[in-house]
Amino acid sequence: MHIQLSEEHLMIQKAARDFAREDLLPGVIERDEKQEFPMEQVKKMGALGFLGMMVKPENGGAGLDTISYVLAMEELSKIDSSASVCMSVNNSLVCWGLEEYGTPEQKKKYLEPLAKGEILGAFALSEPEAGSDATSQRTEAIDLGDHYLLNGTKNWITNGYNASVYLVIAQTDRAKGHKGINVLIVEKGMPGFTVGAKENKLGIRASDTCSLIFTDVKVPKENRIGEDGFGFKFAMKTLNGGRIGIAAQALGIAQGAYELALAYSKERKAFGKPISEHQIIQFKLADMATRIEAARLLIYKAAWEKDNGLDYAQSSAKAKVFASETAMWVTTEAVQVHGGYGYVKEYHVERLMRDAKITQIYEGTSEVQRIVISRGELQK
Ligand code: CAA
Repeated sequence: MHIQLSEEHLMIQKAARDFAREDLLPGVIERDEKQEFPMEQVKKMGALGFLGMMVKPENGGAGLDTISYVLAMEELSKIDSSASVCMSVNNSLVCWGLEEYGTPEQKKKYLEPLAKGEILGAFALSEPEAGSDATSQRTEAIDLGDHYLLNGTKNWITNGYNASVYLVIAQTDRAKGHKGINVLIVEKGMPGFTVGAKENKLGIRASDTCSLIFTDVKVPKENRIGEDGFGFKFAMKTLNGGRIGIAAQALGIAQGAYELALAYSKERKAFGKPISEHQIIQFKLADMATRIEAARLLIYKAAWEKDNGLDYAQSSAKAKVFASETAMWVTTEAVQVHGGYGYVKEYHVERLMRDAKITQIYEGTSEVQRIVISRGELQK
């Protein structure tokens, strides 16, 4: 694995950094407080190509590699994880699967506008009683010949309110267990489909996390992705890539908090000198920097494996569990370095600490990642 970033990578990193500073930073505290979706900023992300980064140009995307995506996710997440989760879901959980397994018609109708950022997508797997235990789908898609009849409820769906296209996982044949699950493309506005209230969350408060309710929704057969019964495998394969995106989000949160703590430690004086000259703070900074670097390398490895056609289920789970735990630890330390100032909103680190927590929960909890990793280890 070659970890030298190319000129193109550095340009993408700079473009993402500039966008985050100029467009995401202003108002980020207020949007978090008011739980206000960053609509204007997300539209600009679409125009800049951030919403379909890895999609081929012929399908409306930017045609970049996964490392580029990771670099952009890190930069946006340093400032605003409500915006970056929207980007991660659109890229990894929606566009990827449509491009990999969609029909030419599905690509034309759904993937192209999603990749261009003209519309947003959402991925609907979790249910009130099926989170980590994803095979226990209660949502049903009954096969009625030319269409499926969809009934059920999905919970905690990112982009839930603002999406136009939803990839919905549902059980068609319960007797077949996970092999009887399908994935259907559902459009907003299909009769019987309603979006529930936005969740009032601890972190990523500006992102629109909602429940989805399906009551006798007729979904045409041509909206199924892949063969009959492919839905669970589709979800698992999709999440392997999604975990790289969320790991990169966690990395950005950690890096953002670290940079704030580093700068603050040079300004803040205590006992007659900047706190950065006290060894206890220096050791904290050293540990933060080291863990962040280790997380970054795990993420680059997973991205590199994905770009090189290797199996990345294990490496993406390792990257996600390590990066998200690093984010939680680093942000907590960053608040500590800031002392009382770290506990108030103006200094940003308290928001980063709240945002870090979700990276240990969504797209598979830390416990799920450990299941994936230990199964891989035991098969060796
Ligand atoms: N990659 C590819 N295939 C996989 C896989 C993976 N990571 N994990 C499982 N599979 C396949 C298995 O090979 C198996 O296939 P076969 O039947 O052909 O052998 C099939 O899927 C069933 O696998 P398991 O028997 O291992 O299934 P399980 O019930 O034991 O569950 C699990 C395994 C790892 C716990 C899985 O249920 C899981 O990942 N759960 C977490 C779900 C999750 O991440 N939810 C996040 C919701 S999305 C979200 O958060 C988005 C957002 O809004 C930000």
